Amino acid sequence: SAQEHDERPIVLIGMMGVGKSTIGRRLAAHIGLPFVDADEEIAHAAGMTIPEIFARYGEEGFRDGERRVIARLIEEGRKVIATGGGAFMNDQTRALILERAITIWLDADLDVLVERVSRREGRPLLEGKDPRTVLTELSAARNPVYALAPYRITSGNGPHESTVENIVETLG
Ligand code: S3P
Repeated sequence: SAQEHDERPIVLIGMMGVGKSTIGRRLAAHIGLPFVDADEEIAHAAGMTIPEIFARYGEEGFRDGERRVIARLIEEGRKVIATGGGAFMNDQTRALILERAITIWLDADLDVLVERVSRREGRPLLEGKDPRTVLTELSAARNPVYALAPYRITSGNGPHESTVENIVETLG
């Protein structure tokens, strides 16, 4: 297929809770590529959790580290990379991703996002706030930017496997 001859890494972007890490891991297994979660790499590089990085260096410091880690992951060669929801909002990070990777916007209804973020702690932007309110505001600001990705895949409430199939078919 055309996809097998495209040497670029595959980068998943989209909102918190959409399932970038879970779907990315399954997509990678499905097509036989390594998977890397950028947030995990950032935490590992900093020797701190994401909330600790935000607390110590602020969101700006986090975005800086995020940009450097994503640049390194993209350089390293062919793989599937899940990025944190805000990565693509950074001008430099976005330019790098669009230029060097196959970018896929994973999208889902607000209800799906709200349900999925409730399953995991450790998201500083949601800390002490109503997740539906924050996710509504962030989606409004971010969706027009996410829409710059050449591919958009909508993930429903159903099994992640159907989303993975959808991505594989879309990439051809
Ligand atoms: C963020 C999303 C998080 C993480 C950080 C900031 C965001 O990743 O990078 O908490 O700005 O949307 P997930 O999208 O994996 O939750």
